[in-house]
Amino acid sequence: MSFTIAIDGPAAAGKGTLAQALSAHFGFAYLDTGLLYRAVGAGVLAGGEPVAVAQALDPSDLNADTLRTQAVAEAASRVAVIPDVRAALIAFQRSFARRDGGAVLDGRDIGTVICPDANVKLFVTASAEIRADRRFAELTAKGVQADLAAILDEVRARDDRDQNRAEAPLIAAADATLIDTTSMTAAEALAQAITIVTAKRA
Ligand code: CDP
Repeated sequence: MSFTIAIDGPAAAGKGTLAQALSAHFGFAYLDTGLLYRAVGAGVLAGGEPVAVAQALDPSDLNADTLRTQAVAEAASRVAVIPDVRAALIAFQRSFARRDGGAVLDGRDIGTVICPDANVKLFVTASAEIRADRRFAELTAKGVQADLAAILDEVRARDDRDQNRAEAPLIAAADATLIDTTSMTAAEALAQAITIVTAKRA
């Protein structure tokens, strides 16, 4: 049986952490859909044409380690405005969502476009300042030199592009539950999400 959890929200709101912990808790498969757009962005930085790169994308291209740079994030949000890029990635995401045993997908348009019939929809957000702080801490912990002010600018620019694009803009689905993690720990956000999912599964 399939059971789909859709998690959307802006950059660095804690979607990935929450999605991974939820998938581990319920034994569901997890897809970080941002990696699809990051892989296309990386292909374009390497000289590819966005739509051709998206159409030729293979799951083996989704290497999180090489795709988690600011430059790739920026390139991802630029290719993500192109309707034919988004269209090329839909079938893979939908079939992942419907797999037996349950699936958690996180992104920007999962509850609105990819899985409008998801069993649970969460919209995870936090203030831009807190999100920039978290991204800064994440990069610093990895030994990457980072500039907090530049990260905040980048987060705001990406929010703006993601929210204002014509195709599949970042917006909470009408039936999504909002989780504002501004003053929440990851454990608190997870506890709240587990309560919501458990109630839907009952
Ligand atoms: O991890 P972070 O939230 O910073 O970014 P991400 O989820 O890896 O997504 C990178 C970029 O891909 C976003 O800024 C969006 O422009 C785009 N994206 C999208 O348009 N739709 C999705 N379902 C996922 C990501």
